[in-house]
Amino acid sequence: MKIFLDTANLESIKKYNDMGLLDGITTNPSLMSKEGGNPKDAMEEITKIIKGDVSLEVVSTEYSGMMEEGKRLREYGDNVVVKVPMTPDGLKACKSLSSEGIPVNVTLIFSANQALLAAKSGAKYVSPFIGRLDDIGQNGMYLIKEIKEIFSNYDFGTQILVASIRHPIHVIDAAKIGADVVTLPPVVLEKMLKHPLTTIGLENFLADWEKLKQKNPDATI
Ligand code: G3P
Repeated sequence: MKIFLDTANLESIKKYNDMGLLDGITTNPSLMSKEGGNPKDAMEEITKIIKGDVSLEVVSTEYSGMMEEGKRLREYGDNVVVKVPMTPDGLKACKSLSSEGIPVNVTLIFSANQALLAAKSGAKYVSPFIGRLDDIGQNGMYLIKEIKEIFSNYDFGTQILVASIRHPIHVIDAAKIGADVVTLPPVVLEKMLKHPLTTIGLENFLADWEKLKQKNPDATI
C-alpha cells in the first residue's frame, strides 16, 4: 500500500520524505488555504521535493475552466495528478485530461456508484472520504470494501486512494482491505510512528548504558 501525505506543509513533507515514507502528496484548496502564502510557491516546491504523484486541485467548477487549470497545474511537473471534483463537469474534464495523458484524481467520492463512474471516466485515482462519512454516522470503511470488490471484478486500472483518514486504525483497516493508497494528515503519520513501549524501552536501554559507563568509564561501542 502506498502512503501519501495529505498536506501542503513543506516542513512536514520534508520531514517524512527524509524518512523514506512518502510515495506521494495530496493537496486541496483547504490545505493550501491553511498554509497561507501563494499556493504557486508551495506547488512548485512540493513537486520538486516529491518524486511520486502530487495531486493538485482545480478550483473552477465548469469544464473549460477545469481543463485550463488542469493543464496549467500539470506544468509544475510530470508527477502532477490533476484533482477534480466528482461532478458532471469534473468527470468530463477527467475523461479529456486522461485522454491527453494527464492523470486525474477524482475527489469528494462518497458512494460506490460515484467511484464506479469516476473509474469509467478514466481516473487514475478515486478519493473516497471515509472520515467525513463516519462523521455523519455512515461507515466509511465499508465504502472502501465495496469499491475494492467492484474494482476487482473489472480492469479499470483505477486506484483506490483512501482520504479523510482520522486515525491509525483507519490505516490498518484500509491495508487489510487492500486499498492502493492512504493519504494521511501528518498528525496520523506521527501517531503511527510512536508506541509507549518503544519510548520506555529506549529510556531503559540508555539508563542501563549509563550504569555500565559508571562501572567502566572506558566502555564504548
Ligand atoms: O484529501 C482529502 C482529505 O484531506 C479530506 O480530509 O479531514 O478534511 O475530511 P478531511
